[in-house]
Amino acid sequence: MPISQETIQLIQDRADVVEVVSDFVTLKKKGTNWMACCPFHNEKTPSFSVSPSKGIYKCFGCGKGGDAISFVMEIENATYPEALRYLAKKYGIEIQEDEKLTDEELAQQTERESILILLDFAKKHFQELLFSHEEGKALGMSYFKERGFLPQTIDTFELGYSLSEWDHFTQHALKQGFRKEILEKAGLSIFKEDHKVFDRFRERVIFPIHNVSGKTIGFGARLLKNDKKQAKYLNSPETPVYQKSKVLYGIAQAKKSIHDLDECFLVEGYTDVISLHQADIRNVVASSGTALTIDQIRLVRRFTQNITVLYDGDSAGVKASLRGIDLILEEDLNVRIVALPDQEDPDSYLRKIGPSAFQKYLSEHREDFITFKAKLYAEEAKQDPIKRAEMIREVVGSIMKIPDEIKRRVYFQTCANLLEIDENTLIREGNQLIKNKAYRQDHPAILQKTDTLIQTPETETQEASETIEEKLAYPTQSIEKECIRLLLNYKDSELKSGQKLGKYLLQEISDIQFEHHILKEMLEIFRKQTSVQSDFFVKHENAAIKSLAIDLITQDYQISTQWEAKHMVYTPEEKDILDKIVQENIFRLKLYQVQKLIKQNEEKLHQAQSDSEQDKYLMIALKLKKLSQEIAGQLNNVVLKG
Ligand code: CTP
Ligand code: MN
Repeated sequence: MPISQETIQLIQDRADVVEVVSDFVTLKKKGTNWMACCPFHNEKTPSFSVSPSKGIYKCFGCGKGGDAISFVMEIENATYPEALRYLAKKYGIEIQEDEKLTDEELAQQTERESILILLDFAKKHFQELLFSHEEGKALGMSYFKERGFLPQTIDTFELGYSLSEWDHFTQHALKQGFRKEILEKAGLSIFKEDHKVFDRFRERVIFPIHNVSGKTIGFGARLLKNDKKQAKYLNSPETPVYQKSKVLYGIAQAKKSIHDLDECFLVEGYTDVISLHQADIRNVVASSGTALTIDQIRLVRRFTQNITVLYDGDSAGVKASLRGIDLILEEDLNVRIVALPDQEDPDSYLRKIGPSAFQKYLSEHREDFITFKAKLYAEEAKQDPIKRAEMIREVVGSIMKIPDEIKRRVYFQTCANLLEIDENTLIREGNQLIKNKAYRQDHPAILQKTDTLIQTPETETQEASETIEEKLAYPTQSIEKECIRLLLNYKDSELKSGQKLGKYLLQEISDIQFEHHILKEMLEIFRKQTSVQSDFFVKHENAAIKSLAIDLITQDYQISTQWEAKHMVYTPEEKDILDKIVQENIFRLKLYQVQKLIKQNEEKLHQAQSDSEQDKYLMIALKLKKLSQEIAGQLNNVVLKG
């Protein structure tokens, strides 16, 4: 049953973030905050900070942040209710449960639980058959032995065997009182209209699929012999507890090691995971033969930022699969690639050359993904000059997915050398990409992080001919972000006039609409709930709002343009120059708004049919131009005054 809203509130009020974090990490006091080496990534100098007054933690190294509840979720790998229960216990808070579940929800929940119980029963049954049944021993166990799986490994992965009989498992389960409906929903039995019933998995070795906490949620089952008529592997269908796209095979067995070694190997098959694990390479999971999904990448990111993908030498269409890797880049993970020799998969190659040679191969052939991709395409382009354009697009496309600007720059350099292309040509291609509207729509996440283009000598000279207003026009997101940052941090601070910053700022920009959807939503909240405080956003149920709010209250947000750097640097005593900062933001927002109107008007001017219509838009253009010059002048004054 769900924990009641009152209990959640009580826990939120009582849980002291410093106390909670201290149970896992040794904190040292620094000013008003507490610091430590981050428990979520490897580091030698502390960049993990806890603020008791704000009730939050934040790592400036890996970016993780949140409140006491999210800390427990993160460090214990717990779900939200699990974290709440942990904290309730720590603070001696009695948990009240809501009776509010609808009948339907209740039914769903009991159904899920029944399915999980049945899957656990099935797993144990298949294990027993493997170890004790004549057929299981003769066919299943000898198959595993032949593949070199040791008893310990078979145990760790809870491998099993399903008999050749048509309905052995189903009958056994029915006798134990499991219902037909649940057997079907769990994907274990197939009931035909004519009342015939049979087991989904027959005469196969069984690989249970586990979720992060080690519960069996489905099965993969392999044929013992090569049979062209049947699929080599048969898997559980999608069920209420098993969604293929959210699961990584082996994650339960690998998670500790992934965390400890701060790296995750990604392979394709069940047997690859098992073989590597047996060779003491335990930080390994499989995508089970399909293209990697966002959910799977985020699952890995709970434990590390570093993924190394092992590619089968025989994997069809390496390039097609490389595209999936761009997804990993977008999530700001570091990706490396090891390509295996032709016709080998990790399992076969490991068995061929043995564990220590395999380890050596991994460390010697591990290559950064972008470099790998660039080389791959460079080779092709050499043979086919027409491919050159495609190569540039592909490589630049991947580089632009990397949210970190410094990393991006390094890659432009490296790839320019590798591809023997001028660096600026590559950068220009990249800038072109983010200016492309369709691309921006397809990649909102990148846009969020890439709101400045990279400068080339060319764009810099272009800049010289820009008008002052154009120069002052910042990327809109930076301005919108800055506005929300001011509201979050200084809403109730007094300006020199005696007025509260929040009230003044909101009033000045009352007719301005934000573009970025999250920032827009946050602004609307400020507008509607005048007394709202920053912790409302920090605890917000929308994860995007929550993390953006945490970012904005923990960082001195600096707008990263060269112009800004030259003329002013935010000092640590930001609160002493609030008047100036808020004015600047207001003028920038207004200027941006006017520039938008100018563009719209220009379009209308182009489409104007008659002379009189043209005159009308020309007049508007002049007025807008004047307005924008005025605002730019005011903005300039504010900025230069400081
Ligand atoms: N797979 C699947 N269904 C198939 C074939 C493959 O689900 N019909 C998935 C399985 O998860 C499998 C992975 O894709 O582990 C990789 O397939 P493949 O390379 O063909 O199998 P291997 O893992 O090499 O299996 P084995 O070594 O047992 O042949
Ligand atoms: Mn194989």
